[in-house]
Amino acid sequence: GLKKKEVNLLCLGLDNSGKTTIINQLKPSNAQAQDIVPTIGFSIEKFKTSSLSFTVFDMSGQGRYRNLWEHYYKEGQAIIFVIDSGDKLRMVVAKEELDTLLNHPDIKHRRIPILFFANKMDLRDALSAVKVSQLLCLENIKDKPWHICASDAVKGEGLQEGVDWLQDQIR
Ligand code: GTP
Ligand code: MG
Repeated sequence: GLKKKEVNLLCLGLDNSGKTTIINQLKPSNAQAQDIVPTIGFSIEKFKTSSLSFTVFDMSGQGRYRNLWEHYYKEGQAIIFVIDSGDKLRMVVAKEELDTLLNHPDIKHRRIPILFFANKMDLRDALSAVKVSQLLCLENIKDKPWHICASDAVKGEGLQEGVDWLQDQIR
């Protein structure tokens, strides 16, 4: 068949936001991990959509590893940025990390698509995707295509809509 286009995808966001759980759900079921543990450093994963073959840099969100993120910015062709919608206390930290990302010289002037997952929408006190996008001031992102989806990565809800959007931005 047709060879799928290869895309390097960066998966970013604070620790415990659900990055690894999301990427795991996107992998074929026979390649999915049963137990998800906090990522140490980063992990390279792969998944495919109908037209694309993604190589994912699933980065650790822990503070001590966040300085690793920028080393992969140059190679990244798309970004998934995950937010824990129930973690109101750290929403300001997530915004700081997002702003640092957006202002980085290897990201700043590139029209790289960013898919946001307002994850953990199943939590009773989760903020809506609209509220998360307001708190992160996503409307201020003018030079990149972006999209936000509410998701429940444990059940796998909301992920396909996001990945469909990402695929449309890339082909
Ligand atoms: P680091 O690797 O430390 O940066 O964390 P991470 O962003 O990869 O988070 P991970 O996928 O390891 O998930 C952290 C915890 O959140 C796990 O216990 C997951 O089961 C849980 N989790 C992930 N997504 C959801 C969700 O949508 N809803 C709920 N309730 N829990 C979730
Ligand atoms: Mg992880």
